[in-house]
Amino acid sequence: MSTKQKFGGPWTVEKLNILSDYLNFYTTALKNKDFQLIYIDAFAGTGKIKIGDEDQYEEIAGSARLALQSKGQFAEYIFIEKKKSFAKELEEMIETDFPDKKRLVKIEKKDCNHVLLQICQKVDWHKARAVLFIDPYAADVKWETLEAVAATKAIDVWYLFPFHAANRMMTRSGKIDPSWEAKLNSIFGDNSWRDRFYRDDPQFNLFGTTDKMKDASTKELKQYIEERLSTIFAKVSNKSRILLNRKSSPLFLFCFAVSNTQPSAIALALKVADYILRDQKPA
Ligand SMILES: C[S@@+](CC[C@H](N)C(=O)[O-])C[C@H]1O[C@@H](n2cnc3c(N)ncnc32)[C@H](O)[C@@H]1O
Repeated sequence: MSTKQKFGGPWTVEKLNILSDYLNFYTTALKNKDFQLIYIDAFAGTGKIKIGDEDQYEEIAGSARLALQSKGQFAEYIFIEKKKSFAKELEEMIETDFPDKKRLVKIEKKDCNHVLLQICQKVDWHKARAVLFIDPYAADVKWETLEAVAATKAIDVWYLFPFHAANRMMTRSGKIDPSWEAKLNSIFGDNSWRDRFYRDDPQFNLFGTTDKMKDASTKELKQYIEERLSTIFAKVSNKSRILLNRKSSPLFLFCFAVSNTQPSAIALALKVADYILRDQKPA
């Protein structure tokens, strides 16, 4: 992990507030329903996060801790954390601070794509409902994984779409390294981003052929990401939050997607998520 990634900023607090608000709603609203409620954290971390920089920082509760202390209780907490030392730290935090919840927790120390596919297959989704938090550093979540999640028709998803990483890999000229191209196809699910965000450069080049040029505003990219997710999920909020870095450039797009296809379930989840997402706070 780079030094830069070790520290969060205002966007970190913003995403965690949103998650925490939704978990408090979820565990309260579904308390008396006959479902086994599961919290799945695909990029769980250690349970705490440093905000600031090397010289001055404070430590705040990370997503795993927030889930464990949410208003109501989940029947199961699945924390996926690939890095062994982080998983160990998380395990120790739970033993010390949440001993009564230890038996409800499963920590998976593998790649989240692999683990999520297994969870989607194994759980009886007629009896269970889940909230999945996807909080990657970059473009780590494969489209097939999201398809499997959507197919459960039982999981609400909060996904920090790697907006900055995607935008950076889509180079200005459209000449893109094959490995980046594959990554872009993997996060967007196909290569429709090419037609969407590149047009012919009106200036002919030396050889008389036209070059491509990128044309992708933040607003259009946001809309495209929501549209792509809508091709697999029953409903996607159109109020996804653009999380900005300290220089006010977009870092992530925090998206909310519902996989349940029942109109009443969609309406309730969306009403709450849209309410939580309503104001774009200055970063
Ligand atoms: C942005 S941090 C997560 C922060 C955490 N959600 C929180 O609020 O405290 C991303 C975490 O995912 C882990 N990670 C990275 N790639 C992973 C993968 N493919 N599968 C599972 N965990 C991964 C990293 O080790 C890191 O701890």
